[in-house]
Amino acid sequence: MSISPLVSSTEEGQIFENFIAGEWRSSTSGETFKSTNPANTQEIVGRFQKSTLDDLNAAVAAAKQAQPAWAAIPAPQRGEILLRTALILQERQEELATLMTREMGKVLKETRGDVQTAIDVAKFIASEGRRAQGETLPSALPDKFNMTMRQPMGVVGIITPWNFPMAIPAWKTFPALLAGNAVVLKPASDTPLLALKMADILHEAGLPAGVLNVITGPGSLLGNALASHKDVNMISLTGSTEVGRRVAEICGRDLRRCALELGGKNAVVVLEDADLELAVESVAWGAFGTTGQRCTATSRVIVHTAVEQEFTDRLVAAAEKLRIGNGLDPQVDMGPLVNKGRVQAVHTYTQVGEQEGARLVTGGAPVDGDSYSQGAFYKPTVFTGVQPHMRIAREEIFGPFVSILPVSSYEEAVQVANGTEYGLSASVFTNDLRTTFRAMRDIEAGLLYFNAPTTGAEIHLPFGGMKASGNGHRELGRHAVEEFSEPKSVFVSYPPRRK
Ligand code: UN1
Repeated sequence: MSISPLVSSTEEGQIFENFIAGEWRSSTSGETFKSTNPANTQEIVGRFQKSTLDDLNAAVAAAKQAQPAWAAIPAPQRGEILLRTALILQERQEELATLMTREMGKVLKETRGDVQTAIDVAKFIASEGRRAQGETLPSALPDKFNMTMRQPMGVVGIITPWNFPMAIPAWKTFPALLAGNAVVLKPASDTPLLALKMADILHEAGLPAGVLNVITGPGSLLGNALASHKDVNMISLTGSTEVGRRVAEICGRDLRRCALELGGKNAVVVLEDADLELAVESVAWGAFGTTGQRCTATSRVIVHTAVEQEFTDRLVAAAEKLRIGNGLDPQVDMGPLVNKGRVQAVHTYTQVGEQEGARLVTGGAPVDGDSYSQGAFYKPTVFTGVQPHMRIAREEIFGPFVSILPVSSYEEAVQVANGTEYGLSASVFTNDLRTTFRAMRDIEAGLLYFNAPTTGAEIHLPFGGMKASGNGHRELGRHAVEEFSEPKSVFVSYPPRRK
């Protein structure tokens, strides 16, 4: 592990306001909270509004008022605004990526990718404005015509996490807008900046006032209030399974639609015939990319005993070679965790793993050294000899942390892979055609890869998980817009006049 010097700069953060009804507004609380750089928490990235329920109500009211006129604009024109948004994002990609690395910590290569996802989604969804939004169907009766049409939900509340500060707000907001909804977006308090930038860019691209509103501030207060607001017709949330359950309960009481993308405990299965070099490379990227903070991150490796030792040795070598530091430094492979609290949370799992009797083979501690002392750095961590019942094999850790579980057959690998409450992403390393097709059938995951990392889903395919990784919804893909609209079945009879 080599040490990279942190770029240190201390600045008083600029103050950012909420975006409500097309205006930048301070919170009625008169208070702000700060967002700091996790590579150096002395550096303030910005100050943000600590919003109140009054601010939230104002945002929802603005959305409700703006929605009918927005829905009356032809969908292709709504799409044009998204296309202009894509072009502005493209021009500003480097600036936005740099801000994101400062606020969230992941390396520039990844923050560029995060903005790129927003660009790709904007382009993809823009063209949906020109595609059919319903179908015509035959009638079982004479002189009758049947069709379906799609109608917007109305006001959509969107709650987003900090690990993809622009990509996730974008991939929820853009299809919601294209469908003719107005949106109230509440970004995570660790990374509010990029969501506000996104709103600014949509506004510049011509989005009418009130159609998108962004408020920042305390997650549970604002999240609960948004999810229970009588004028909010749908909630879309990406977050932990725990938060998802709470939001689903709140929405359930009012029968409000709620689309949830939740946790994962994603497994890579490495079988006897696997290309080990490819498997090691993919696990290192899937587990330590974004410092392990993706819901799709590789968290378990289920490896055949025939190749276990070699795989483990090579993975440990790969983990120890990673250069850790400030993500703005092009030499750095892995940035910090999102905040110092997360360092302790991840470290607790190292202690749990040791208590449970698994073997720590590398990492297992915060990174030491002066240049790391102000940041939220944790070493890439690998445990071997992990058993399926252990907490480190079952619970989402959300850090650079891999549990290796040995198995002695394909059948056992499937049983272990499916043995958690989650079912988001999985990957199988094999060169055997029959095993490939069996795994396609057997593995319980909404995203299934072969000979590739568990991360890196493409936006034109459905995204989401089975079991406790969600509530059956999928985002993105060709049905992205349908997710944010309701079908109406229309039956038109035209029998001859009876006179
Ligand atoms: C997430 O971590 O919430 O497949 C989403 C991937 C990314 C999305 C991750 N495209 O890893």
